[in-house]
Amino acid sequence: MKHLKIMVGLLALLTATSALAQKDLKWTDLEKTDAAALFGEKCGMCHRGGGMAMVILGRRLPADQVLLENRTDLQVPFIETVVRSGFGVMYPISPGEVSKKQLATISAYLAKKPGAK
Ligand code: HEC
Repeated sequence: MKHLKIMVGLLALLTATSALAQKDLKWTDLEKTDAAALFGEKCGMCHRGGGMAMVILGRRLPADQVLLENRTDLQVPFIETVVRSGFGVMYPISPGEVSKKQLATISAYLAKKPGAK
C-alpha cells in the first residue's frame, strides 16, 4: 500500500514535469516549423482576427484582401522588406524577434498561393 502511494506520487510528479517542459518549449519557440502557426504567433496579433493591420489595410484594399493569407499578389522580397524595414505604421521587426529562417518560412507561406504571380 505504501509503495502504491509512492508510485502514484511519482507519476503525478512526472506528469507535472513533462507539462512544464512542454510549456518551456512553447515559450522559446525555436523550432516552430508550422508556417501558419508561426505567422499567427509573430504577425497574427495585427494581421488576424480583425487586428490593427486589417483595419488599416482595409482603407485601401477590398475586404477579402485585408487578411495577408488571402492575398495572391504578395512576393517573398516584398514581404521580407516590409518586415525588416517597416512599412507605414508597421514597425520594423528585427532578426531577434523573427529569425531569418522564421521569416523565410512565413514569407514562403504568404507568397505561395494558387494563382500567385
Ligand atoms: C504591430 C502590428 C503588426 C505586426 C506585429 C505585423 N504587422 Fe504587418 N502591417 C501592420 C500594419 C498596420 C500594416 C499596414 C501599414 C500601412 O499600410 O500603413 C502592415 C502591412 C504589412 C504588409 C504590407 C501589405 C500591403 O500590401 O501593403 C505586409 C506584407 C506585412 N505587413 C507583413 C507582416 C508580417 C509577415 C508580419 C510578421 C512577421 C507582420 N506584418 C507583423 C502591422 C503589423
